[in-house]
Amino acid sequence: MRIRYNPEARPALAACPFYIDDPKAAKGRWNTLYKNDLPLWLELGCGKGSFIANTAFNDRGHNYLAVDIKSEMLYLAMKNTENVYGQTPIDNLLLADMEIMIINNYFDEEDHIDRIFINFCNPWPKAKHKKRRLTHPNQLNQYRIFLKDGGKIVFRTDDEELFTESLDYFPAAGYEITERTSYNSLDSQTRPPLVATEHELMFLETGKVINYLVAEKCVR
Ligand SMILES: C[S@@+](CC[C@H](N)C(=O)[O-])C[C@H]1O[C@@H](n2cnc3c(N)ncnc32)[C@H](O)[C@@H]1O
Repeated sequence: MRIRYNPEARPALAACPFYIDDPKAAKGRWNTLYKNDLPLWLELGCGKGSFIANTAFNDRGHNYLAVDIKSEMLYLAMKNTENVYGQTPIDNLLLADMEIMIINNYFDEEDHIDRIFINFCNPWPKAKHKKRRLTHPNQLNQYRIFLKDGGKIVFRTDDEELFTESLDYFPAAGYEITERTSYNSLDSQTRPPLVATEHELMFLETGKVINYLVAEKCVR
């Protein structure tokens, strides 16, 4: 998704109490940034943030962290979060700016992430770019370091080739695929009970089939 430069984004994020300005400094101590010890769930590439804002608001049993590389996206995610929470304190959701390709600069084994959501990431179809996929084994191996044993990765995509190749990527990196489904409408009986993302709504409107899987980290 292309998004225009917004001069308001960075200053607004800098003043936002639930935005983490220096995520590298939080490495190894993400759990201490919340007011409780609830399990931490992470969304990679949150875009405009509808999914994370609504999911976190409706689920007080987990802490949430949503990351994206674009300040303009994080700014929209911040606005979405403020709208969804209204007067309710935003105490179980943080936002941060990260380059996911180098995610181990921001997390280590002390972070004990319980679940990772990858929603409609860029498919990178050209052979020379496939290593940039968020489900490429190089990435899945990085996530292993901070994802708990038995922790889950929840993955949704409209891209058939990315999904098919990811079915090989997960086992190759030591994950077992424990759930798998596909659907082409919001009210389909095969659709998992997750909040829709902006991209999901867009793809479903154009009649695309969405593929979904859950993969569990195996102990090696
Ligand atoms: C196609 S959009 C999907 C957004 C959202 N998850 C949804 O389903 O509507 C992909 C998002 O991932 C972010 N992204 C892509 N590559 C990234 C990277 N290497 N590091 C961090 N964020 C990235 C983009 O800025 C964009 O917001």
